[in-house]
Amino acid sequence: MMTRPAMPWHSVEMARSAARSVLPRAIFDFIDGGADGEAALRGNLDQFEAYRLVPRVGVDVSGREQSAVLFGRRYNSPLGIGPTGLAGLARPRAELMLMQAAEAMNVPFTLSTVSSTSIEEIGDAARRPHWFQLYILRDRAISIRLMERAAKAGFDTLVVTMDCPVGAHRERDLVNAFSLPYRPSPAAVIDTLRHMPWLLRLALNGAPQPVNMVEAAGSTGALSLLAFMDSQLDPAVTWQDVRDLRRRWKGALVIKGVLSPDDVEEAINVGADGIVVSNHGGRQLGAAASPLYQLPAIADRSKGRLTVLYDSGVRRGMDAVRALALGADGILVGRPTLFGVAAGGMDGARRILEIFRADIDRTMALIGARTLTEIDARSVATNQPMQTVGRPLGCPAIAANRQISNSILEGQNGQLA
Ligand SMILES: Cc1cc2nc3c(=O)[nH]c(=O)nc-3n(C[C@H](O)[C@H](O)[C@H](O)COP(=O)(O)O)c2cc1C
Repeated sequence: MMTRPAMPWHSVEMARSAARSVLPRAIFDFIDGGADGEAALRGNLDQFEAYRLVPRVGVDVSGREQSAVLFGRRYNSPLGIGPTGLAGLARPRAELMLMQAAEAMNVPFTLSTVSSTSIEEIGDAARRPHWFQLYILRDRAISIRLMERAAKAGFDTLVVTMDCPVGAHRERDLVNAFSLPYRPSPAAVIDTLRHMPWLLRLALNGAPQPVNMVEAAGSTGALSLLAFMDSQLDPAVTWQDVRDLRRRWKGALVIKGVLSPDDVEEAINVGADGIVVSNHGGRQLGAAASPLYQLPAIADRSKGRLTVLYDSGVRRGMDAVRALALGADGILVGRPTLFGVAAGGMDGARRILEIFRADIDRTMALIGARTLTEIDARSVATNQPMQTVGRPLGCPAIAANRQISNSILEGQNGQLA
């Protein structure tokens, strides 16, 4: 008999709908929304359709393996959980649930600087090392102290987010008069009361706040902590600051928010082990470049010198496989597991990871890839009619992509496709 999944979802979109119904509008919009007119956010979802997968047939795909080694640790899948601040808005203790779901599935989990569960609480509950995301704050001593706390709590990978020199302009939040601690605007009171289970959980557990900041801010009031956090965003952060962190951090160091191939050289120069190609899920710059379109050139430039992770817009295993084919070594997601935890707690987050894992496995079978190393530039094609065979390609977009693909293949396999 088939066992029924704990959460009756078959896609991330189903979990998103479930999250939409359990969360007050302003909270759902805070998680789901993007910057400015949300062009980057929409683009993140659409960009995958620019590429389609090219199956190889007649391959024995009965033994498939999607395990991946990232920063010296073997995971059961290349897809893990990226940092999302104040996840407690989705559900109290969300970070703990996300961490436990990641452990249950043996995939990476990243705790945000502005988490609503503390570094130490996650460290105490963890059964293996996790990743800690760091913002370089105006007061550098605070960042160094956060980093030291993370090391002490057993985190082994530091993800330094570089794409937030200033706060973003998020219009959904402005329209909803979204505030922290959450106080519904007069127009949103009825909507909030309609989400009683969420409201009761909030009442019982208190308003989520960036608890890691308590020590530095010398206060436990959520309002002052958030005001403090805002005041700590620093437009003057440079690569020199990362160099300083590198000297102090013993584990792997990853730069998050890279969209330019030129920043690959900077990351290598400061001694980073990896990068996350990301536009922050479309939450920072509404006109940010499509991370998937940037990925081949970035992977090409890194030429195996860095571990290249990808995030932004991944909603299906086949999206993850497309990013792997375009040069990523691993994938992170933000909203999908947050939707899962909002609507179903730990089981919900785990269900999302299971869906991704099953999707990646099925996609691998369908394209004839037995291992992740068999997913490469030959596995993907631009989604346009092929113009000629054996003659120069007429369409500049295809020609450009073919060139990029070839240079990736040269790097990976020492041969042309
Ligand atoms: C609600 C929310 C909070 C986030 N908070 C952080 C954060 O604290 N630090 C960070 O580096 N990225 C943060 N991000 C960005 C994610 O790490 C990731 O880049 C993005 O969500 C990936 O896009 P996706 O949501 O389409 O998967 C946040 C994203 C969301 C949705």
